[in-house]
Amino acid sequence: MISYNYLAFVYDLALRRFYKKGLTTLMNKVNNSSSKTVLDVGVGTGLNLPLYRTQKVVAIDPSKKMLKKAKRKKTNANIKFINSTLEKCEINNTFETIILASVLSTVKNKRVFLQKIKTLSTYNTDIFVFGHFTPEKGILRYLDLLVQPIGKILGFNSVFKLKDIINEADLTLKSIEPIYLGGYWSVLHLKNF
Ligand SMILES: C[S@@+](CC[C@H](N)C(=O)[O-])C[C@H]1O[C@@H](n2cnc3c(N)ncnc32)[C@H](O)[C@@H]1O
Repeated sequence: MISYNYLAFVYDLALRRFYKKGLTTLMNKVNNSSSKTVLDVGVGTGLNLPLYRTQKVVAIDPSKKMLKKAKRKKTNANIKFINSTLEKCEINNTFETIILASVLSTVKNKRVFLQKIKTLSTYNTDIFVFGHFTPEKGILRYLDLLVQPIGKILGFNSVFKLKDIINEADLTLKSIEPIYLGGYWSVLHLKNF
């Protein structure tokens, strides 16, 4: 797997336009809630940071180079950056909102990762996820299988089913907002119960 340290320099250029609709939808949900504390997991280069209002945000990412770019983004939020994987970070408090934007498919051990998400959230926490999900039927599931070898090199898992997250982590799906390709890319609202 290519580390995100190598992708950092092209990341914004390659994905800014594509992610715009998803990140805007995600951030509208965050900004429309009354939540003041946010955990932004796998913040990457911080493409969504300019969209925050005035929340207190903890932004985590294991890639130093992605974080370096994130720190340069303009934002109204009060952000504390942590250079770590979520699994190894030493945060003990819980958050009102947790954001996972295009992260889940890049995580090595989803089970451990999602268990950590659960310890950092309460019954009231809103967990918002932006990402692609492999459909159970249709041509896109074959596309995901086809892209899998390239995805492995670039650091993401193209075959990625929504039911796996829900079942593995025992989370509740409150809503799905389709972004592209009839919900292949979507924004999810999850709850820790
Ligand atoms: C596809 S990028 C998404 C970046 C950003 N959220 C966005 O929407 O543009 C995935 C990011 O997740 C980070 N990441 C991968 N595994 C992680 C983990 N276990 N804990 C925290 N971040 C992780 C990577 O370093 C990378 O910056």
